[in-house]
Amino acid sequence: MPSIAPSILAADFSRLGELVKQTEAGGADRVHVDVMDGHFVPNLSMGAVVVKGLRPVTKLPLEVHLMVEEPGKFVDGFVKAGADSLIFHLEVQPDPIELIRHVRGYGKKVGLAFNPDYDPSRIEPFLADIDLALCMTVFPGFGGQAYIPESTGRIRQLRAAIDRLNPKCELEVDGGIDRRTIGEAANAGATVFVAGTAIFGDPAGPTEATRELLRLAGD
Ligand code: DX5
Ligand code: ZN
Repeated sequence: MPSIAPSILAADFSRLGELVKQTEAGGADRVHVDVMDGHFVPNLSMGAVVVKGLRPVTKLPLEVHLMVEEPGKFVDGFVKAGADSLIFHLEVQPDPIELIRHVRGYGKKVGLAFNPDYDPSRIEPFLADIDLALCMTVFPGFGGQAYIPESTGRIRQLRAAIDRLNPKCELEVDGGIDRRTIGEAANAGATVFVAGTAIFGDPAGPTEATRELLRLAGD
């Protein structure tokens, strides 16, 4: 059962609540909040105040993607603001167990992410401890980038590891996911698809765009 996670980074922030509801109408089952600190990635995006603002607007789980040098500094603030799951990068937290436990202590879901130049096998020791593994399909920092073709083999490799070590763990992909690339990522084993530009930049509108991506992902 594929899931679509609209990335609000690409949304018109003057209409954020309304647009999130439109993706929900199209079948989105979570909202992807891209948090960037200008250090781990060369861009600054949004903080816990955006989660706080969205919380009363949607019942969808709010999934926070922490593209930050020090994720441990931000977990408490996002949980208090209403986040349902927190995803942080192995590149900055090579020994993630303590932070995983800290997130779990709140009863929240936890995910680990890695960039396109990171060996997917390095997540294997932690797969049993997490709810979601995020295989980045672009180098993070900006929406609207192109899917990196080598990602497909990496998704396949991660899928095999998840099936072997923790079949309950979700496999999420993020970056350049659109009508042309989602089928390839799904065939390689991805089950959760982050899309920003492909949803909020689609002239058909977020509802139809989300619905179409779900169909192409095999729903
Ligand atoms: C990294 C972010 C992605 C990005 C996706 O840049 O983590 O979630 O917003 O945007 P699109 O779908 O436009 O590539
Ligand atoms: Zn993201």
